[in-house]
Amino acid sequence: MLSGISGSVEPDIAPDTFEVIGRILKARSGFTLDGYKDKCVKRRIHIRVRATHSPSPEAYGELLTRSTAEQDHLLRVLTIHVSHFFRNPPVFEKLGAEILPQLFEQRDQIRALSVGCAGGEEPYTLALLMKERFPAAIDAGRVTILGVDVDTAILEQAREGLYHPDRLAELPPGVLERWFAPEGSRYRLCRELREQVHFEHADLNHRQGWDPCDLILCRNVLIYFERERQETVLNGFADALSPGGYLVLGKAETLFGTARKRFRTICPVERIYRAL
Ligand SMILES: C[S@@+](CC[C@H](N)C(=O)[O-])C[C@H]1O[C@@H](n2cnc3c(N)ncnc32)[C@H](O)[C@@H]1O
Repeated sequence: MLSGISGSVEPDIAPDTFEVIGRILKARSGFTLDGYKDKCVKRRIHIRVRATHSPSPEAYGELLTRSTAEQDHLLRVLTIHVSHFFRNPPVFEKLGAEILPQLFEQRDQIRALSVGCAGGEEPYTLALLMKERFPAAIDAGRVTILGVDVDTAILEQAREGLYHPDRLAELPPGVLERWFAPEGSRYRLCRELREQVHFEHADLNHRQGWDPCDLILCRNVLIYFERERQETVLNGFADALSPGGYLVLGKAETLFGTARKRFRTICPVERIYRAL
């Protein structure tokens, strides 16, 4: 998922330059590099060093100081937005067949949260799944779905609900025809489902707490964070989830440290955990 580096060895980014870059980004958007793995961040900075033909990371730092357009470029590269509808289909199979039926049976209201929701693909997938499998519950207003992300520009796109076909390649048969309308070369999700999901800005590096919820999807986000930050975030999810609520992580992510004691593993393969 991280854009690859060609065989060449990158010059290290000196601590001073790294600090300058961090300060510029913070001033531009409030985004901080604090909790992220240095290796991931540096790899992405190098992508922009090469793309701008800067002779060195220091020269790139100078360019970044002058150019707000480049600051926005770098922010976009750092907060990589790869996502698509029904990403990793088995996890949504499991949600539709086992997890959601249980939640709907046990609770009047289901509050779902998609953290690091990118262009809305993940929370809209949840809305689609619920609408197709539990239409009465959706129509009765028993569901709220909130998508949050650190990147306000991607949240604007999410609200638009307009997608290139490559984001829709894993839709189950018939879903495209039932819930999307073609618009030029793209497809727009129908208004009813767009209105089912709300979007808000949130930065996992600064977030103090979440409103109570019953289901959290946080997939392919924590992988970029230092372990300590991951543990803090996971404990924050445990605090927010109602007893018996579910947490779904990405395929390459897992619980660890103190957070492990706060969940029971429901499906290790699909990374589904239940709050104790
Ligand atoms: C790779 S996408 C994952 C999208 C979706 N969850 C999925 O699995 O398809 C990672 C998302 O996390 C967001 N993100 C990165 N750092 C974040 C932070 N500190 N707080 C909130 N969201 C963040 C990025 O902006 C990006 O949209």
